[in-house]
Amino acid sequence: MKLFIAGHQGMVGAALVRRFQREPGVALLLRSRQELDLTDAAAVAAFYAAEKPDTVIVAAAKVGGIHANSTYPADFLFDNLAIATSCIHGAYAAGVRRLLFLGSSCIYPKLAPQPLREDCLLTGPLEPTNEAYAIAKIAGLKLCEYYRRQHGVLFHAAMPTNLYGPGDNYHRQNSHVLPALIRKFHEAKTAGAPEVVAWGTGSPRREFLHVDELADACGFLLRLAAPPDLINVGTGTEVTIRELTELVGAVVGYTGRVVWDGTKPDGTPRKLMDVSRLTALGWQAKIALRDGVARTYRDFLAELAAGTLRS
Ligand SMILES: NC(=O)c1ccc[n+]([C@@H]2O[C@H](COP(=O)([O-])OP(=O)(O)OC[C@H]3O[C@@H](n4cnc5c(N)ncnc54)[C@H](OP(=O)(O)O)[C@@H]3O)[C@@H](O)[C@H]2O)c1
Repeated sequence: MKLFIAGHQGMVGAALVRRFQREPGVALLLRSRQELDLTDAAAVAAFYAAEKPDTVIVAAAKVGGIHANSTYPADFLFDNLAIATSCIHGAYAAGVRRLLFLGSSCIYPKLAPQPLREDCLLTGPLEPTNEAYAIAKIAGLKLCEYYRRQHGVLFHAAMPTNLYGPGDNYHRQNSHVLPALIRKFHEAKTAGAPEVVAWGTGSPRREFLHVDELADACGFLLRLAAPPDLINVGTGTEVTIRELTELVGAVVGYTGRVVWDGTKPDGTPRKLMDVSRLTALGWQAKIALRDGVARTYRDFLAELAAGTLRS
């Protein structure tokens, strides 16, 4: 397999590199953003023509938090559409036989029934704060489906749940809840602070998948002879934010108090993927959340010491 991982320097892309570089018979093809701007269709086409990968995973995207998504919706729609069209059409035109496109659970309608099933796609309005990003991702997964239907290429898409692990973003304002808690508890422990303030009531429920498991699931999906056009990747289990907070505090070794600031918003009460399609095919997550968080805290400390923490 000559595998191009688009976006290999991101959190997901780096996990895919770790996964596939130990697999015999796989030659990795990697380009940094400086070497290849994936929104540039002509440059991507020239790259495919010169390097001739036979398999592609699209893990590149312009990603951001609520603030960035709602302030720059034009950039989020344009860049992500351009990445999808360059990578997918370019792959088809260059004779790539297999392509896996990655999206996220925000493609599903805001009020879709939980757990989120693949067939709830396009059944209702999207969450307005990330509509631009979601529309680009829906266009990308539909491109895969339609190229497969019209041209017979094996292009398909996977939608991961919330991810965590090495290479995560620990930015003070822009990070997701799990890395934000790791940083908060680590800093409180280091400073000897008596309390940590957590946002909301702690009652919302969320699902978390270690990014190395997503990479493993991608390897599994790429080996299927007839993969579904669209498949959710998650653990199928959920924790409350309160349980997660207690778990992260315990893993970090913080012994102070946690104070809940109920004046801060909770967000969606529940966000869980239905993973029955993936389970029926034979793949299941194995890393328990406590083990995954312990590994991630070790990675956080190593990245902090090396000066490579994304923050
Ligand atoms: N993290 C999660 O919790 C999560 C959950 C579900 C789904 N996903 C999905 O997984 C995919 C990857 O996410 P991630 O968390 O790995 O994000 P990430 O860490 O920000 O990685 C994205 C990568 O894409 C690169 N990129 C962006 N625009 C590019 C361009 N024009 N040309 C070349 N490279 C470009 C980025 O380069 P720069 O670093 O230079 O910007 C970065 O290396 C996305 O589709 C996302 O929706 C992520």
